[in-house]
Amino acid sequence: MAVPEWQSPWKNENVSLFRNEKSPSHPLVLNESSMLVTTDGRERIRDMNPPSIRTVPGEGLRRGFGSRPQNQGGSLCPDPRPPERQASPAPRPHSPLTTVWQPRPGCWESHRRSFLTHGPETQRSGHRSAQRPGCLEKRGAFGQPRNMLAVHFDQPGGPENLYLKEVAKPSPGEGEVLLKVAASALNRADILQRQGQYAPPPGASSILGVEASGHVAELGPGCQGHWKIGDPVMALLSGGGQAQYATVPEGLLMPIPAGLTLPQAAAIPEAWLTAFQLLHLVGNVQAGDFVLIHAGASGVGTAAIQLARIAGAIPLVTIGSQDKLQMAEKLGAAAGFNYKEEDFSEATMKFTKGAGVNLILDCIGGSYWEKNVNCLALDGRWVLYGLMGGADVSGPLFSKLLFKRGNLVTSLLRSRDKKYKQMLVKAFTEQIVPHFSMEGPQRLLPVLDRVYPVAEIQEAHKYMESNKHMGKIVLELPQ
Ligand SMILES: NC(=O)c1ccc[n+]([C@@H]2O[C@H](COP(=O)([O-])OP(=O)(O)OC[C@H]3O[C@@H](n4cnc5c(N)ncnc54)[C@H](OP(=O)(O)O)[C@@H]3O)[C@@H](O)[C@H]2O)c1
Repeated sequence: MAVPEWQSPWKNENVSLFRNEKSPSHPLVLNESSMLVTTDGRERIRDMNPPSIRTVPGEGLRRGFGSRPQNQGGSLCPDPRPPERQASPAPRPHSPLTTVWQPRPGCWESHRRSFLTHGPETQRSGHRSAQRPGCLEKRGAFGQPRNMLAVHFDQPGGPENLYLKEVAKPSPGEGEVLLKVAASALNRADILQRQGQYAPPPGASSILGVEASGHVAELGPGCQGHWKIGDPVMALLSGGGQAQYATVPEGLLMPIPAGLTLPQAAAIPEAWLTAFQLLHLVGNVQAGDFVLIHAGASGVGTAAIQLARIAGAIPLVTIGSQDKLQMAEKLGAAAGFNYKEEDFSEATMKFTKGAGVNLILDCIGGSYWEKNVNCLALDGRWVLYGLMGGADVSGPLFSKLLFKRGNLVTSLLRSRDKKYKQMLVKAFTEQIVPHFSMEGPQRLLPVLDRVYPVAEIQEAHKYMESNKHMGKIVLELPQ
């Protein structure tokens, strides 16, 4: 692909494009002086197509699909995907789980009957024994069900092993909140865990799901009063999100940004906190930095592009198709390189006029190591946070890195301790969350590709593994 000339739609007198002229202020503190102000960006956003997912006041989650006429009154983020991709989530045959739900408070019985009568395909085809009739009638104090449905697998392996199982509802421990989950997004961690390659950290739920949105259902002992029952929240989890209820330390909850739906909120915690952490806490991004973001249309990538922009850096992406490239550029990527068609390392060096990139966010690993180090700037930072391209390296990595005086750092969020995660969540809540609701070109957009009812968990995993998606894949839980 020809390297495009730099024609930034982002204009800011205070942010220089080149490292030796960059602002010395640390962009983690987002204030007026570190904001990018752009008139072109405003036009760009106005020109975008209508959102695929909108909220209708008072309707909320179950009316969240954009193609339905009743949703056209909502206002929310423009959909940055190319028009032909915006049909998804297409008007698709929803399972009885989504069409029959009537989320009236206390109406668990009707959901249960609907589920047992119509049952998701996974239950009908061999897992019905997991759904013991009558079990959900057992109720605890205040008539709440003691059991819940959760995504489950008995053996590690392919997506066909996944099904919905009735399991015990968790209870919040000291300083924890019980979350009634409305939606939970899929992550690569779920795929790896399903394959038996990524065990949850000690003490975490073995149920899949590292992020969720929903409402506070119960407060455990010792909660500090930050949240009350019924609050809409989104949560960073170590596991357990793909179930009707999940427990979460109160410090890992975040308010849902005004104007976002519950499925959109479910798409934020893991991807955006990871991107925020990689850029600022690990990668020490500076205004004016060239940041190379691999898998630019991934959940983390779509967040990182926008967060790099808001920090005054210049995001470049590698990506596997033309439509993904267009979407990444709409989100703010200054350039994108299709790694299937060209050497991204050469293209990056050309784009940066030989300077190389100051920061690489690398979730690919093995297959990219040499190209990464070739396009790294002197003293550049290379943050490894995934291994989708393999874990093995063969060749002179150390000598190449040494001559660049390069810094190779690795990062895993899930295994971090509670204190670190709480610090991260607090910083993100204060500095980034308001930008999801702001009007104007600085507005941040959680990119949703598809929303599946959780009964279609097998399909959702297959879709992620096909690598066709852009942004996040979200699951809705029965209410
Ligand atoms: N360390 C952490 O704390 C942390 C936290 C969250 C996620 N992660 C990691 O971040 C990565 C992205 O996660 P995600 O959920 O955002 O992913 P995602 O939305 O599922 O997107 C992944 C994309 O990566 C690209 N890709 C896949 N295999 C590739 C390969 N071998 N070479 C080049 N590109 C490839 C594909 O897009 P193309 O069509 O462009 O190829 C694919 O759509 C994963 O590796 C995940 O494990 C790490």
